[in-house]
Amino acid sequence: MSLLLRPARPSDFLVLAAWVPDAAACRRWAGPLVPFPFAPEHLEGLLEAQERPSYGLWEDGSALVAFGQYWVQAPGHAHLGRILVAPAARGRGLGRELCHHLMGEAFRASGARVLTLRVYRDNTVAQALYTSLGFRPVASECTNESLFLEAPVYPSAG
Ligand SMILES: CC(C)(COP(=O)(O)OP(=O)(O)OC[C@H]1O[C@@H](n2cnc3c(N)ncnc32)[C@H](O)[C@@H]1OP(=O)(O)O)[C@@H](O)C(=O)NCCC(=O)NCCS
Repeated sequence: MSLLLRPARPSDFLVLAAWVPDAAACRRWAGPLVPFPFAPEHLEGLLEAQERPSYGLWEDGSALVAFGQYWVQAPGHAHLGRILVAPAARGRGLGRELCHHLMGEAFRASGARVLTLRVYRDNTVAQALYTSLGFRPVASECTNESLFLEAPVYPSAG
């Protein structure tokens, strides 16, 4: 299996729109600002992909299997978001690979030395992944609904 992270193209958003089955999944993935249902052709705009570097993870050069974004929030700080693996491809290590690649990209392209993430408290699968990658809660930024996580990023990432 070969994996490649590359900048998302407009056609990628049409593919990942089909990975979001309902309002609860949409909110868990993208937060409260992306409405559901949405028109697939509007997803690129809803995710503000022009302002937020967006990437697809490709398997064997032929299948888009995961998607994620990052955006710079302050000098040296990049926020990862909209992490999503194709439903049929979950549990095979692709979420971990996506995060590794995205962390490396944020480090190289934006110069980020600290990465942050927000995850709903009931999203235990994603939390387990992020914890295993070194993310830890920042108590002052957490809410009743979600955890705000932070991790240092190292040159070896990705
Ligand atoms: C969260 C998500 C990205 C994980 O992707 P994935 O490809 O299934 O995860 P991986 O196979 O890489 O597994 C990584 C870790 O996640 C955790 N994990 C994965 N599947 C799990 C499951 N069914 N139950 C519990 N933990 C699980 C484990 O800690 C696993 O590490 P391990 O294999 O060393 O035990 C994926 O489930 C997803 O797209 N969810 C919907 C969108 C979402 O919630 N995004 C996060 C927004 S903050």
